[in-house]
Amino acid sequence: MRKITIAIDGFSSTGKSTLAKQLAKALGYIYVDTGAMYRAITLFAMQNGFISASSENIEGLVEQLTNINLKFVFNESLGFSEMYLNDENVEKEIRTLEVSRNVSRIAEIEQVRIKLVDLQQKMGVEKGIVMDGRDIGTVVFPDAELKIFMTASPEKRAYRRYKELLDRGDKVTYEDVLENVEKRDYIDSHREFSPLKRATNAVGFDNSDMGLKEQFERMHNHALRVIMKEA
Ligand code: DC
Repeated sequence: MRKITIAIDGFSSTGKSTLAKQLAKALGYIYVDTGAMYRAITLFAMQNGFISASSENIEGLVEQLTNINLKFVFNESLGFSEMYLNDENVEKEIRTLEVSRNVSRIAEIEQVRIKLVDLQQKMGVEKGIVMDGRDIGTVVFPDAELKIFMTASPEKRAYRRYKELLDRGDKVTYEDVLENVEKRDYIDSHREFSPLKRATNAVGFDNSDMGLKEQFERMHNHALRVIMKEA
C-alpha cells in the first residue's frame, strides 16, 4: 500500500492527538504532535526568563532559537514518542496549565514558526506520517492526501482537558481551563502568521457527541479509502 500524509488540524483539546495516535498505530505510520514542539519552546522561554505572566523578551528568545534542540524519542513501554528539549525529557512539564497559558504567545512568533515548520517538513519527507496541529494542512503539508479538521464545543473541550489535568494530579478549576481554551482559540485563529483555519479540502469533523471508538472507526475507514485511491 502506498504511504500518504495525514494532516489533522483543529482547536485545542478536540482530541486531535488521540485520533492521530490511533490512526498512526493502525496504519503503521509515524505520529508527530506539533503542539508539543511549540510547548517545548515555551517551556524553554519560561525556564530562561524570556516569558512570564508579567513580562516577555521575544527578541532574547529569538536570538536563542538556534540553541534549542528538539527531538521526539519513541518510548517502547508507552507506545508513543516523548518530547525532548536539549536532551531532557520534558513530556510532563510541557502539559501544565502554566505552559498552556503562555504557548499561544510563543506560537505567534514568526521565527519560531519558521524553525518548527522546517523541522516538521523534514520529518514528513518520506510520507507515512500523521501530524496534528493548527497549520498542518494549510502550511506544513498543503499537499497532504488526507486533511482532517476537528471541532467540538469549547465546553466539551474544556471538560476533557480539565479531567486530563485532574487525572495527572494538577490542581485546576474547570473555569480556569475553559478560560484558557477560549483564549487560545481566539489567539490561535487571529494571529498574523499561519492562523488556525480549515484548509479548503479538509474533511470537517465535529466530535462533540461522539465516542473515541466511533471517531476512530470512521476516520480509519476514510483513511483506507483515500490510501486505496492513491494506490
Ligand atoms: O495542540 P496543543 O494544544 O498542544 O498546542 C499548543 C499550542 O501550540 C496551541 O495553543 C497553538 C500552538 N500550535 C500552533 O500554533 N501550531 C501548531 N502546528 C501546533 C500548535
